[in-house]
Amino acid sequence: MSHIVITGASGFVGRALVRRLRADPQHQLTLIDQAFDAATDGPNTRQLLGSFGDPAVLDQALRTPADIVFHLASVPGSLAERQHALGYQVNLQATLTLAHRLAAQGEQQGHVARLVFASSIAVYGPLGTLPVREGQPAQPAISYGAHKLMAEIELADLSRRGAVDAVSLRLPGIVARPATETGHGSAFMSLIMHRLAAGQPYVCPVSSGATAWWMSLPCCVDNLLHAAAISTADAPPSRCWQLPVLHLSMHQILAALEQRYGAQCGQLLSHQVDPQIEALFGRFPALHTPAALAAGFRHDGDADALIRHAMAPAQ
Ligand SMILES: NC(=O)c1ccc[n+]([C@@H]2O[C@H](COP(=O)([O-])OP(=O)(O)OC[C@H]3O[C@@H](n4cnc5c(N)ncnc54)[C@H](O)[C@@H]3O)[C@@H](O)[C@H]2O)c1
Repeated sequence: MSHIVITGASGFVGRALVRRLRADPQHQLTLIDQAFDAATDGPNTRQLLGSFGDPAVLDQALRTPADIVFHLASVPGSLAERQHALGYQVNLQATLTLAHRLAAQGEQQGHVARLVFASSIAVYGPLGTLPVREGQPAQPAISYGAHKLMAEIELADLSRRGAVDAVSLRLPGIVARPATETGHGSAFMSLIMHRLAAGQPYVCPVSSGATAWWMSLPCCVDNLLHAAAISTADAPPSRCWQLPVLHLSMHQILAALEQRYGAQCGQLLSHQVDPQIEALFGRFPALHTPAALAAGFRHDGDADALIRHAMAPAQ
């Protein structure tokens, strides 16, 4: 039986991960979040309400030492930018508290946990037009990205010391978030799918030629589970992998939606470009990730598979 701890278990990615892990009765799950509903409850599951940075919550969570920790909890980028103290406290300080509590488990009990950290492509900052490669310098332009990068570095150092066994994954935009969650700047990546699939008109805030890095939720969960299982003997000292992505334009997404849901999708879609959203989320260059692919991480395959996976009913 493995004891698996998931922070941010009620979030978009966390719920899908819990669903997947629950399929294996050999897993004992400890979930940490600030709110829960019945969707994440079930056999072999303990829900701990509170902050993952609270030592009392961590003591409860780690009464049985953790074998694997998926650290998914975070304050989203736009909120962390508006409320710097909150982002700093959760995305950096609480993450360091969690990392050091796990390091103490490794050092004092000899039980070194695999820690899978959901980092973000926000670590890079503005990207030019040239293809991005692994080793792209990280120059975050928002606090959320800066705090993710700082956490990656600390986790790599604790891993070098042998106190934890961390794997940081830089996630791209994951689709399709529920249509009700519209506050994110990149919400258009999910809304275009939900609206056109439902036969509803959609005014897209980026141009038809806008390009982004795409991954479906099931593919993201596959990669998180892979990160929990891989050998880190040959991991880079950074302990960090940029996940492979599909680099697709909105035009290619539309073509895949037409293929799946019918030609009327083209008539339902119009564009009213918001220059800020286009600049931040619609100008991604190509991305090459041979090391991540060699380590077994995957993208969805092609645009049709992306839509199929992203719009699959929750399993
Ligand atoms: N979804 C994406 O497109 C994407 C892209 C890049 C990186 N990521 C990263 O992946 C992770 C998961 O993303 P998501 O989309 O599921 O996020 P989400 O915002 O949907 O969920 C985050 C969860 O963390 C919880 N949380 C926040 N602060 C907490 C605290 N102090 N203690 C306990 N729980 C707390 C929230 O209540 C929420 O349930 C995040 O770390 C995010 O930064 C996601």
